[in-house]
Amino acid sequence: MKPFRILTERFLGLHLLLTEFMAKEKILVIGASGQIGVELTLALRKIYGASIVIASDLREENPLLKGTGPYVTMDVMNKELLHLQVNRQNVTQIYLLAAILSATGEKNPNLAWNLNMQGLLNILDIAREQNLKKVYWPSSIAVFGPTSPKQNCPQQTIIEPTTVYGISKYAGEFWCNYYFNKSGVDVRSLRYPGLISYKSPPGGGTTDYAVEIYHEALEHKHYNCFLEKDTYLPMMYMPDAIRATIELMEAPAEKIQTRTSYNIASMSFSPEEISAEIKKHIPEFTIEYAPDYRQDIANSWPQSIDDAVARKDWGWKHEYDIAAMTEDMLTNLKDAG
Ligand SMILES: NC(=O)c1ccc[n+]([C@@H]2O[C@H](COP(=O)([O-])OP(=O)(O)OC[C@H]3O[C@@H](n4cnc5c(N)ncnc54)[C@H](O)[C@@H]3O)[C@@H](O)[C@H]2O)c1
Repeated sequence: MKPFRILTERFLGLHLLLTEFMAKEKILVIGASGQIGVELTLALRKIYGASIVIASDLREENPLLKGTGPYVTMDVMNKELLHLQVNRQNVTQIYLLAAILSATGEKNPNLAWNLNMQGLLNILDIAREQNLKKVYWPSSIAVFGPTSPKQNCPQQTIIEPTTVYGISKYAGEFWCNYYFNKSGVDVRSLRYPGLISYKSPPGGGTTDYAVEIYHEALEHKHYNCFLEKDTYLPMMYMPDAIRATIELMEAPAEKIQTRTSYNIASMSFSPEEISAEIKKHIPEFTIEYAPDYRQDIANSWPQSIDDAVARKDWGWKHEYDIAAMTEDMLTNLKDAG
């Protein structure tokens, strides 16, 4: 047989294998129109193919998702319809991102508790009943409370959250652990820090200031910050968070030793520090501080996180620091504007 023909046949064989693998996987992203959902859906579609990843949300399709793959309107609270969709579309993996975040949760505790808990329980039940291959559900640094260590807060420590959001995330972590141990549901989770991104706006968290500040710096050269200047919080740039999520989901199951949720970290900074970083690019930028109810939430959280366990178990490594992130944020927001 001629070498070219052998190569062609090998390529075709590989291609067929890949196609077969793809045909067996179907990923459903719930909450796909949110801050994380948009970027995660686009990243998953890039890796696995457009038709493999179904985006869904209660609200309308985010404009950045339009034309990039299938979209369905869905309420995670409607278990019957959800079950039907999972069955009909032969879904094998779910990424559940629908939630009420920390600041909005304090304004509407019942809504936050109901959505954050029942939404998760619906998905875990469906995963068990349908024998789904994998589930992803994010927790948050909001699980930690005032009695947790402020610096380098470890994976396992005193955890006494004081916000309804933090309580719901902590309870959720133990539901994940329970479904893994009792029913073998392969559910994986990360405790995200505050996430900074330019594509889709944040959804009502205490760390939202670190996104708003870039928009305001470019538009008005001034920002009124709702946190005190020396409020240090753990933060992460979205590309690192998306990569962490996909790497966690791609890791072999035996490497995932923590079935509650993993600490992950990349940087910690205060409003004063991010403002100084922005001034390097926009010297006339000014900032004022007028702390509101979100200051109490921020004060209850650690200032930095120890993520040694994630680094050891599945090789987590961050890329962006505050300088690289600021440069990238300002460049991309300028290009978009
Ligand atoms: N963004 C952050 O800084 C951050 C930090 C830690 C943890 N998290 C967690 O990550 C996940 C996603 O956060 P996000 O920042 O993208 O939030 P977001 O508010 O931007 O997006 C959530 C999406 O869920 C949708 N949704 C709400 N109710 C729904 C329902 N009943 N059915 C279907 N969809 C519904 C919303 O329309 C929204 O598009 C959440 O679990 C959040 O707690 C986020």
